[in-house]
Amino acid sequence: MKIIRTLYDMTEYRVGLRERNASVGFVPTMGALHEGHMSLVKQAVSENMVTVVSVFVNPIQFNNKDDFEKYPRTEEEDFKLLAAAGVDAVFAPDAREMYPEGNQNQKEYKLGKAAEVMEGLYRPGHFQGVARVLDILFRLVDPHRAYFGEKDFQQVAVVRNLVESEGLKVDIVACPIKRASDGLALSSRNSRLSKEQREKAPEIYQTLKYSVEYSKDHSVQATHDTVVEHLDAVPGMRVEYFQIVDARTLAPVEEWDESDWIVGCITVYLGDVRLIDNISYRLPY
Ligand code: PAJ
Repeated sequence: MKIIRTLYDMTEYRVGLRERNASVGFVPTMGALHEGHMSLVKQAVSENMVTVVSVFVNPIQFNNKDDFEKYPRTEEEDFKLLAAAGVDAVFAPDAREMYPEGNQNQKEYKLGKAAEVMEGLYRPGHFQGVARVLDILFRLVDPHRAYFGEKDFQQVAVVRNLVESEGLKVDIVACPIKRASDGLALSSRNSRLSKEQREKAPEIYQTLKYSVEYSKDHSVQATHDTVVEHLDAVPGMRVEYFQIVDARTLAPVEEWDESDWIVGCITVYLGDVRLIDNISYRLPY
């Protein structure tokens, strides 16, 4: 597996692939890789001739300095996992290489209404930072397909809008959420949970699952309220937001028959660790 650190070397590598006419799959990550990331990587490896993974903790998408500094970094183990999975190249630049003009995000991307709700409200600037790094990476790696996890449900919708508004030629592939055996959605941030917090964390998914049953004979509002009340009652846990939305537009729904695809997106703080998850109430397929 090739380890690439500079934009120059990445460009050279991409030119070489073009000569071979290889189909390229791309998985952008911030490292601290776990089975969730690796499920995307495996799918990319199986669907493309060449797979490129980026590992870059993107400073401009963190609206909280502390979260950025505490974000886990496990580069050596990450590279071992990627090599074993059959990845062809990993692109792992440092921040000066990615943003030679500094970390300011100058360009304002058009990300649509999907970027204005939920994470867009609670993490100002976050999606502009995600858009900036993906704009650079997509132009550099120039993949045929790029793989994203539905764990970050809103991110997938925003990335689709970015691709559309920037006229990028890449297929966005959405992959299902990988969970631990007790239901907790795998996340790099889980490693920051204490033993007690880790024991409480599965309550998030258990409550979401229970709420799908509950929703069958209750209103959207009642379903929303039962989730929030239940999780807020867990000591040390605080719901930042829970919204039941149309899965395509991410606009809130008030009635279950408003859309054929409805998801509930949640963000919970366990101590100072911010965890996100989501569940489908209605599926078009
Ligand atoms: P990161 O949090 O490292 O996630 C990289 C990719 O892995 C994302 O598409 C995310 O949705 C997916 N992923 C994480 N946990 C998952 C799980 N449990 N199941 C399935 N997929 C999972 O998301 C980012 O990085 C960044 O915002 C990035 C897109 C790399 C831009 O910096």
